[in-house]
Formats: sequence, structure tokens, C-alpha cells
Amino acid sequence: MLMLNKTAGVFSKPSKKKIYEFLRSFTFHPEKLFLHKLVLGIETSCDDTAAAVVDETGNVLGEAIHSQTEVHLKTGGIIPPVAQRLHRENIQRIVQEALATSRVSPSELSAIATTVKPGLALSLGVGLSFSLQLVDQLKKPFIPIHHMEAHALTIRLTNKVEFPFLVLLISGGHCLLALVQGVSDFLLLGKSLDIAPGDMLDKVARRLSLIKHPECSTMSGGKAIEHLAKQGNTLPLDFKAPMQRAKNCDFSFSGLQNIVGSIIMQKEKEEGIEKGQILASAADIAATIQHTTACHIVKRTHRAILFCKQKALLPQTDAVLVVSGGVASNLYIRKALEIVTNATQCTLLCPPPRLCTDNGIMVA
Ligand code: KG4
Ligand code: ZN
Repeated sequence: MLMLNKTAGVFSKPSKKKIYEFLRSFTFHPEKLFLHKLVLGIETSCDDTAAAVVDETGNVLGEAIHSQTEVHLKTGGIIPPVAQRLHRENIQRIVQEALATSRVSPSELSAIATTVKPGLALSLGVGLSFSLQLVDQLKKPFIPIHHMEAHALTIRLTNKVEFPFLVLLISGGHCLLALVQGVSDFLLLGKSLDIAPGDMLDKVARRLSLIKHPECSTMSGGKAIEHLAKQGNTLPLDFKAPMQRAKNCDFSFSGLQNIVGSIIMQKEKEEGIEKGQILASAADIAATIQHTTACHIVKRTHRAILFCKQKALLPQTDAVLVVSGGVASNLYIRKALEIVTNATQCTLLCPPPRLCTDNGIMVA
């Protein structure tokens, strides 16, 4: 109404140009009228600088992300001071971009949420100090976020999932199984005793020099392994699945990495090639490591489902298993997990790929 009165007063003889100028002077965002709380989420725990604005009903108003993957692929792994420098170089731009695409001004924010643990200390520090400056400047509340809890709860943005549910987080830096009983109520059932599956796949891909493979040069190690595995056959492996006797749901991947390392050495001898050249049997090795990794992940997850059901921590039917993290985008591993969820009357849910990996939305 106010707007109409103003319009009537301003334009006695309106020209088209003036009308457009006038209309442009109003920034009218109908979607904002019903919003109350807006949270800016900031993520810098590893090698992604990410930010997003989410409202209290879970609507994503805008997001921005800068991935360092390309740089780290070239150096053969994350070098923490390099990751820190890249976060420093990008954080301001990424936060500004997230706010601009959301059409939210900093003063409209209700709070700023930032990953504070776990992660690379140097990387976490960039997000934290940037956020603390911002909350001080804007006089807004600060919400410290646990990175794994953010990953575990992300599914609730896209699916109506009730507590409790089981979550399996598998990525380059994470490997854990937990029962999610509430927003900040987690029961840790198992974790990797050494490296994460994505880290192991990255190391094997590097040892196989897959970055030199014409089909895989821009792919992460895990993705390259999945891609090549489709063209290969599993080799017989003299390897007992790890943790068979461990009465918990822990994981271990470094033994598998060592075994595959020996196979690669043997194949290099057989094929008469030097370390650093691509083996003719690379696809078979990729298929073997992918299959063995899937078997191990599935066995530990099966154990966790049975344990939770036996202790009545999960419902007997229609229990939910959420799988997230970069490795969760592997379709072979997903299929293997589906066999277990079908056999135990559970539902397998995976967030869409962009929410599986590190992002600002999950933090907000
Ligand atoms: O979640 P993410 O983006 O970053 C963290 O590690 O937190 O996960 C990246 C990891 C890398 O180790 C990468 O090799 C692995 O996920 N990855 C995959 C696939 N795509 C990415 N592993 C297996 N299969 C894939 N398709
Ligand atoms: Zn993560």
C-alpha cells in the first residue's frame, strides 16, 4: 500500500525510463517476507572454502564454494600450509558470494555458524578467525559446529528422517559409524583405527600414477579407481578382511594399502615397467581394491545394524542408514551397502553428491 502511494506521488508524467529507474530502486524479495532466522555457515576444515545462508526451515538461500582439489592433486596430497594460504585467499570472496546470491545483508543474519573441529588445525583456524571477526563486527551470536555432526545431520535437509538413525561417514578424512539419537546426541559405534577409505584410495591411485592416465587426469583418486574398476576384473587377493575378530564396528584400511602396494610392485616386475608408468593391469588392481574396500565397509556396517537392532537402539523394521562423505558417491560401494540394508529391512539414504562432500550448507 505504502509503495502504491509513493508511486502515485512520484510519477505525474512517467516516462518508461523513469519507471524502470524507480522500480529498480526497490529491492523487493518476496521470499524474504516470511523468513525469521538466517544463519551463515562457514566451512574451512580441510580443503574446501565454503559458505552458505540457510533459513530456519532449512531453505538454502545461497551458497558458494572454492575447492582446492586441483592444487592438491598436483602436489600429491594436502600440504596444510598451502591449504591455509588458499583458505585465506578465498574466504572473504566466498562469504561475500554466499551472501550476495542469498540477497541477504550481513546485518540481517541471526547467527554465524562455523566448523571448529575436527579437521586440519591450520585450515580450521582461517574459518574460525574470520568468523570471530565477523561476529564481533556485526554483534551476532556465534555457533561452533562439529564437522561430523554437520555431515550426519545433512540428510534432514532433503529427507524427512526421524531420530534415531544410523550414519556411515566415509571420505578422505573421515570414517565412522554412529547412531544419531538427536541433533547433538551421537553414539559412536566405530571409526577407522588408521586411515580413512578415501585417503587409502587416493594413495593407491597415486601409487598407480592414475593422474597420468588419459581418462583419469582430473579425477580424485577414489573417482579414478571407480572409473577404472569398471574396465577390470578382481584379482585373487591373499588378504583376510581386517578386524574380523574385533567385537566392535571399527575399520582399518592401511593393511589393504600395503597389500595392494606389494601387488603393484609385483605387477611392475611382471610387466617390466618402472614405478610411475601406468600398468596394463591397473584396471584389475582398481577393481580389486574397490571390491575389498566395499566388503570391509559393508561387513562393519552390517555388524552395526545388527548390534543396534539387538539392543533396540534402532527400530526392527524401516530403520534408516544414512551414508555420506566423498566415498559415498561410489556406486559400487553403495550397491554393496544396499544388499545389507535390503537384507535387514533398512532404508539406505544418501544426500545428493554436492551435500555428501564438504559444504557450507551442512554447517549453516
Ligand atoms: O568428503 P570429501 O569431498 O572430502 C573429505 O575428505 O572430507 O571426500 C573426498 C574423498 C577423496 O578421498 C576421494 O578420493 C573420495 O572422497 N572419492 C571417492 C569417489 N569420489 C570421491 N572415493 C570412491 N569413489 C568415488 N567415486
Ligand atoms: Zn567432511
